[in-house]
Amino acid sequence: MIREITKGIYSVGSNHRDRKVFDELIPLPDGTTYNSYLIQGEKHNVLIDAVDPVKSEELIRNLKKLNIPVHYIVSHHAEQDHSGAIPDVLKSFPNAKVLTNEKCKSFLMDLLFIPEEKFIVVKDREKFDIGGRTLEFIFTPWVHWPETMVTYLIEEKMLFSCDFFGSHYGTDDITIDIGEGIFEPAKRYYAEIMMPFRSVIKNNIKKLREYEIKMILPSHGPIHKNPDFIINAYEDWISDNVKNKVIIPYVSMHGSVKNMVDYLSKKLDDMEIPVKTINLSGGDIGELAIELVDAATVILAVPTMLVNIHPVGAFALYLLNALKPKTRFIGLISSYGWGGNAVEFVKSQIPNLKAELLQPVLIKGNLKDDDKKLIDALAENILNKHREIKII
Ligand code: FEO
Repeated sequence: MIREITKGIYSVGSNHRDRKVFDELIPLPDGTTYNSYLIQGEKHNVLIDAVDPVKSEELIRNLKKLNIPVHYIVSHHAEQDHSGAIPDVLKSFPNAKVLTNEKCKSFLMDLLFIPEEKFIVVKDREKFDIGGRTLEFIFTPWVHWPETMVTYLIEEKMLFSCDFFGSHYGTDDITIDIGEGIFEPAKRYYAEIMMPFRSVIKNNIKKLREYEIKMILPSHGPIHKNPDFIINAYEDWISDNVKNKVIIPYVSMHGSVKNMVDYLSKKLDDMEIPVKTINLSGGDIGELAIELVDAATVILAVPTMLVNIHPVGAFALYLLNALKPKTRFIGLISSYGWGGNAVEFVKSQIPNLKAELLQPVLIKGNLKDDDKKLIDALAENILNKHREIKII
């Protein structure tokens, strides 16, 4: 897709609307795009990031069609969905050099075998004049690899942000800003990719707030023509604020756990606490990740299996621990047949979380009237906890 964004600045990347999964893990309900931008200067032309190798041919075709020689390639991030096509670009433009930071250079040499002489290493806040236009490289580490950086085009006040502020949203025309429609895809993207780095993102956003930004051009999904909308959303997601919401990821083999989930959901609903249940069996882990961005409480609902919790529940705990959400309270409801050590296991799996563990509810077999009293008490406990932190 070639689009002229403004005079001499083109989108030359690729739509991958039918991609279904990323990193062999993350479902992509809306596909994705690999955005690449060509900036024409009076002296030099610069390609900002490349595309995933599966779309390399399309990028080269777009560049040939535009017939504008590439003198430099800015590589913001070594992950191959943005760097994988760089070797092909270098083949097509043999005199081009790769502008990047020292860490990214090292990754690109390891991952793509790009020879060292092809690189020009830049420093944080370094400016690069291409004739009538000036790039400023701003290091933004850990969004979401250690080498990540962004580029500010000074004259146009455009921020080329790579993964930062991106969204997996396939479209043939990234120059069409879909307004608030980008909120959910961007939140999902933040949840899956950025959330573990919440505290460093705070510093990076503070750094970017020093710049007047008229447009954000990420490397996935549509351009943001109203930068404040997405920056404000990020500022909310990375804040310590949580919402009056309970999420119940569950797995139920024969219905006992599902009965517990339904009973607890109804109880919370009666208390006017919003609830979201997520079936972990064959479900979309992105749905869980999105809810983890701001839910105050997570109640994991799993049966015992082979004296431990069901492996699908264990996978959810692994994700929970890896994504490091700001969840304040965690609980467990579980049904067992003849024993197990679910509570100790759950505690041992989430060392990264600062959440308070609520009194678990473990029942033998299916839900009985006495068990319901335990779930009533859990719901009451959640209500009180939410009141204590003043979200009700
Ligand atoms: Fe879109 Fe971290 O790559």
